[in-house]
Amino acid sequence: MEKKEIVQLLDDMSMEEKIGQLLQLTGSYFMDDAVLTGPEAEIGVTDQEIALCGSVLSIHGASDLMKIQDKIMKSQPHHIPALFMLDVIHGFRTVFPVPIAQGCTFNPELVKEGASISAKETAVSGVHITFSPMSDLCRDARWGRVMEGTGEDKYLNGIYTKAMVEGYQGDDIKKPYKVGACVKHFAAYGLPEAGREYNAVEVSNRTLFEDYLPAYEEGVKAGAVSVMTSFNTLDRIPSTANCKLMRDVLRNKMGFDGVLISDYGAVMELVNHGIAEDAKEAAKLAIKAGVDIEMMSRSYVSELKGLIEQGEVDQKLLDEAVMRVLILKNKLGLFEKPYKDASVEGEKEVILCKEHREAARKCAEESLVLLENDGILPLHTQGQHIAFIGPYADNKELFGAWALMADGNDANALSEIVPALYPNNGYTFEHACNIVPKDSLLSGLASTLETKYNDQEEALAMDRAVEKAAAADVVVLMLGEHRLQTGEAAAVGDIILPKKQLELLDKIARVNQNIVTVLFNGRPLDLREIKEKSKAVLEAWFPGTEGAYAVMDALFGKVNPSGRLSMSFPYSVGQVPVHYDEFATGRPKGEEGEQNKFCSRYEDIPNAPLYPFGYGLSYSEFSYSDRCLSKQKLNGSKNEDTIEARVTVTNQSEVPGMEVVQLYIQDVKGSVVRPKRELKGFKKIFLKPQESKTIIFTITEKMLRFYDIDMEFKSEPGEFRIYIGHDSLETHAMAFHLVKE
Ligand code: NOJ
Repeated sequence: MEKKEIVQLLDDMSMEEKIGQLLQLTGSYFMDDAVLTGPEAEIGVTDQEIALCGSVLSIHGASDLMKIQDKIMKSQPHHIPALFMLDVIHGFRTVFPVPIAQGCTFNPELVKEGASISAKETAVSGVHITFSPMSDLCRDARWGRVMEGTGEDKYLNGIYTKAMVEGYQGDDIKKPYKVGACVKHFAAYGLPEAGREYNAVEVSNRTLFEDYLPAYEEGVKAGAVSVMTSFNTLDRIPSTANCKLMRDVLRNKMGFDGVLISDYGAVMELVNHGIAEDAKEAAKLAIKAGVDIEMMSRSYVSELKGLIEQGEVDQKLLDEAVMRVLILKNKLGLFEKPYKDASVEGEKEVILCKEHREAARKCAEESLVLLENDGILPLHTQGQHIAFIGPYADNKELFGAWALMADGNDANALSEIVPALYPNNGYTFEHACNIVPKDSLLSGLASTLETKYNDQEEALAMDRAVEKAAAADVVVLMLGEHRLQTGEAAAVGDIILPKKQLELLDKIARVNQNIVTVLFNGRPLDLREIKEKSKAVLEAWFPGTEGAYAVMDALFGKVNPSGRLSMSFPYSVGQVPVHYDEFATGRPKGEEGEQNKFCSRYEDIPNAPLYPFGYGLSYSEFSYSDRCLSKQKLNGSKNEDTIEARVTVTNQSEVPGMEVVQLYIQDVKGSVVRPKRELKGFKKIFLKPQESKTIIFTITEKMLRFYDIDMEFKSEPGEFRIYIGHDSLETHAMAFHLVKE
């Protein structure tokens, strides 16, 4: 449709029709046989409102969606097609590793490919927009949603956000197999106080702008067509009512001109927050803040008309919001092709096709992080007796939270594939214990908790597992969190594995010390006990549909682990939030063992995390040499001036492998306190045995900018240090000066 036709359409619409475009309801309202429960039943939507509703969430399937589209267009006076939106967070039916695991690949191309595959499966199922990426910076492992983000680093988060938006949207969302992206949750949702879900966020303006906002901005710059407000308050204002944040920052500063959607029920939650008296005030605050679509509450449909008629809300605000929704529908080409890519045939053809599975496997392989290895890995491919023990040894459900379309039948458990593919060893597989106690109160969006054993059965299974472990050459312990322990509304006060699993580890360690632990989890955990009792630890996260293959091949050495942590693993929960780019204090802690009480430290635990950001081992051995800078002075007044930082990386081993070469910069002195170092670049390279490669990073003045004492984003002359190495602990420094001449 031409722009002028949209203008004309808007002009021709009644007020009720316009407001209907701003309502988003779940699919259940449109299914003939659906029974409404919970919030769906409670919000009390009328038939008239359903008939005029402009967008639908949480539904998929070409056949259903085409029918619903017909129904909606029929009930709309101007036959306006509906938008269909869905949470496709790490894959549709082909499930990719959870986002935090994807973050560990340090391979944005792979992440982009994954997003583009997810878009394809999503599009054929009739959905137009995915509620992804989640660009929230996460530094608190207690928060359940850290699995949905790509980690603790602002630079890395921005790169992945861009990659995902580009993967979903391509260069034009109208094209086949493309869907719109929705960058969320704006803003700083990853910083709830004390890690508790939906809690308030307290953050300085400087930290907000410097650390928390850049990733969302990358999404906006990459052209994301929608943004979602966050549930939290910021500066004591709920985002959904935060006019300054949405209009001044998101729209004016970042240049976002797409559709702003509230999170689920968030407009009416303004009443719970205690800043709105009732639906009327909530609607007024949200529309003024610039929220276009209200997801799953009905304050707009019940109140906007009255507010406009009474002169409390300018009609212009309504028209602008509706216009943005219509423009988005037009961008997707829905006025001409209301089903877009929905196709039952297409679903059969593309969903879970070979190419998609291969990409998911590659992504899973590169997301594995080897945390410990004394040489026990890789496992021998013949002549050993290996006992795979633990609740993930025979478990196909390696999907993690938000894999709403996942089906266990699409995936394999290690027990099903290892004996056939590595047939020259002897194997036993023992489930040994439930992932979580059978009376856990876990519940989730896609499933309820199922446990295998009652107490008596579990005791017997544990004994049997210990017996089998005693007789084995090597024990591979397959432990982890339940998928319902991570994701939304899954905050925890402690970050250890369920106790039964630790008991299993302990019992096995008494009879066999050759333990390799493989972990399936969605958040950094306190791994002290696991580290102590295992000879190798492989962090597998929730690796998705092809996860079992990836883990198996890494254990047997066909895949060389190359993932690096995108989020530090705390020593214990008392350290969180812990992140590598912390600030210098006035009383820094000295060297280990130095006695000084009055410095920034804990009495009982170290300052350093157990595994730092950027960390990860390999079966290869890499060395760094010949580090140098092309010059020691960078002239910040000349745009084109750059410094080249070079390093030679050599694979000293006989095993081919991938290394993530990481560049960190420290601004030694600034008008405000600067982080100890910041990631400014990385390159993932492949090296054959004994091969060397020279890597060059280009340093520009732009990379040195920050919010100065006057909140101006610029660089300051002075000394900078450069660290190029294997992880965020690299100590070899090179220095240069920024001058402005
Ligand atoms: C609430 C979650 O916070 C958000 O991430 C999600 O997209 C919506 N529900 C829709 O399911």
